[in-house]
Amino acid sequence: MTVALSSAVDLLRCPVCSESLTAQEQRLLCARGHSFDIAKQGYVALLTGRSTPMVGDTVAMVDARQRFLAAGHYEPIAAALAELVVEYAGTPVRVLDIGAGTGYYLNRVLDAAPDGIGVGLDVSKPAARRLARAHPRAAAVVADAWQGLPVRDGAVSVVLSVFAPRNAAEIARVLAPGAMFVVVTPTARHLGELIEPLEMVRVDEHKERRLDESLAGRFEQIGRRAVEFPMTLRRNEVATLVGMGPSAHHGDPSRRSGLIESLGETSQVTASVLVTRYRAVDQPCLATTSE
Ligand SMILES: C[S@@+](CC[C@H](N)C(=O)[O-])C[C@H]1O[C@@H](n2cnc3c(N)ncnc32)[C@H](O)[C@@H]1O
Ligand SMILES: [Zn+2]
Repeated sequence: MTVALSSAVDLLRCPVCSESLTAQEQRLLCARGHSFDIAKQGYVALLTGRSTPMVGDTVAMVDARQRFLAAGHYEPIAAALAELVVEYAGTPVRVLDIGAGTGYYLNRVLDAAPDGIGVGLDVSKPAARRLARAHPRAAAVVADAWQGLPVRDGAVSVVLSVFAPRNAAEIARVLAPGAMFVVVTPTARHLGELIEPLEMVRVDEHKERRLDESLAGRFEQIGRRAVEFPMTLRRNEVATLVGMGPSAHHGDPSRRSGLIESLGETSQVTASVLVTRYRAVDQPCLATTSE
């Protein structure tokens, strides 16, 4: 049992029956007896057994992401998130990072919040193995965000979604009153210099509007900041960047390697994202009367 999992267990709930969980040696157990083993790599899979069409990032994608982020190329994004949490999250910081990947951003946010506790959630086991080592105060959980979050109602003060899925109804449920939801999305300029030469997937120009629309009715925007900066990337770093992103799922890999080979020794590439803060809006109570 990792220290992080035993501290975060109060934030979690059983994915089968929604009861609270307790930590017992190498497993988490709910009051109705559903039991979830803690893998020897330190993560716990809180799955219902229903089939998951999405498998998440592969080992190769997770390794590429780890290398690229460790080189510090996206540091300004991590710094922006850490600043927001210090400024607005209040205390105690209880952060849920959905689609947390390697835990790079969760690690930075927890470093900025000395008493904070984090849960990194990802549907990918290779990501969860990295997540379990991301920070001593971050628990690693395998779950499919689209099947419901194995997190108690109102348990967290910040939810992060960084280039990751957003399940609005579930996020609203797990946020404490007044707590914030922070979303990082690429703009149409993100990696713009590489899109044509490498035949990459272009970011939808209407993504911002679609983001707001997908959250409308449950969340209101309370702040938005553009984070845009230049990166100088060597050819092998471009290959790593391509390998960790959505383009890794598309196109012919050998053709892509050829295209990367034809780039110059270094490329100037723009990173451009929006960091948007939302607050849940009150939902009208659903009638639950029985006659
Ligand atoms: C583009 S990566 C971003 C990872 C991390 N937030 C970062 O920026 O470094 C998207 C992540 O979401 C995860 N993911 C995809 N579908 C998911 C789902 N349904 N539930 C939970 N995680 C999911 C993937 O496995 C992957 O780690
Ligand atoms: Zn249960």
